[in-house]
Amino acid sequence: MKQKILVTGGTGYIGSHTVVELQAAGYEVVIIDNLSNSNEAVIDGIEKTSGIRPAFLRLDCNDKEGLRTLFGSHTGIRGIIHFAASKAVGESVGKPLAYYRNNIVTLLNLLDLMPEFKIEGIVFSSSCTVYGQPDILPVTEDAPVKPALSPYGNTKQISEEIIRDAIHAGLPFKSIILRYFNPIGAHPGAEIGELPNGVPQNLVPFLTQTAMGIRTELSVFGNDYNTPDGSCIRDYIHVVDLAKAHVIAMDRMLENKTDEKLEIFNLGTGIGVSVLELIHAFEKGTGVKVPYRIVGRREGDIEKVWANPGHANSVLGWTAHETVEDTLISAWNWQKKLRERGIQ
Ligand code: WQD
Repeated sequence: MKQKILVTGGTGYIGSHTVVELQAAGYEVVIIDNLSNSNEAVIDGIEKTSGIRPAFLRLDCNDKEGLRTLFGSHTGIRGIIHFAASKAVGESVGKPLAYYRNNIVTLLNLLDLMPEFKIEGIVFSSSCTVYGQPDILPVTEDAPVKPALSPYGNTKQISEEIIRDAIHAGLPFKSIILRYFNPIGAHPGAEIGELPNGVPQNLVPFLTQTAMGIRTELSVFGNDYNTPDGSCIRDYIHVVDLAKAHVIAMDRMLENKTDEKLEIFNLGTGIGVSVLELIHAFEKGTGVKVPYRIVGRREGDIEKVWANPGHANSVLGWTAHETVEDTLISAWNWQKKLRERGIQ
């Protein structure tokens, strides 16, 4: 019998790729999304990729009564994967109250309703930004959570504490917290990918739009960091590798593969790549030059962070497989498909 899963933010970048992997694993998926940073055409892309059209309802997780109605009509939802949140580090510095309201209230609404509708588990989309600037790299899950350098990162820290305290208080559900590093790339079928509304905040969509001529040049936010080439270092992971980890996590909770009620995993490749190295990897992989200019640092940016993925590798049996060059090629293929369709 197909298990039914709710995916909040399921028309978003990571959400849509996760829906495809959930469907491939035999789950029935219900998507809710307020379409603030995506559009409903993504549902068509999911169907073209997986062959299965997920149920979709335009709904904001801030709307608690709307959520209650949803759970009442879509009976049998056993688990939730919660992606719906604002997620741009730089933007959060300028809009802190909007980030705290959106990212915290939505989680509280879901946790409040889970016991009422006997929903057994929630996979929470967290982030390596909870580590701040780690003292030791690669960073492990037991690294101290340091004061966040951005309101976005702080909302993820607070959300993790809310989940921990709720489970400690005995609320009847489990949770697996997944701390993403930097998801990039697109499904090889190029029917889904990263398509933020407006000017991209993240490096790779801005890079591919620059390569396509949509943007005149890429700004590299600083080359005076304490790194080999002076630019920031991140752990860039293929979004499909990341999506597959969510299915493993949901299986683990619903099949009671562990007695733990709360687990935390880093989802990264374990390889640190600088901004300049990433640009050069893109140019090498695609043969397309990217015009860029070194500018000042971006407030809220962490200097260098990459994962020790050993816990996820050993406990979940999950490993990121794609190289950064192949991942960038998938991002470029997606950008070309958008151009073919006249979307960008
Ligand atoms: C990467 C690097 C920038 C844009 C992201 C998500 C966040 C979280 C962690 C999941 C930085 C530099 C960027 C540009 C640049 N993911 N950069 N020029 O800030 O690491 O955070 O991953 O939860 O949600 O935002 O990603 O792509 O914005 O930046 O030089 O035009 O690229 O300074 O060093 P970031 P990013």
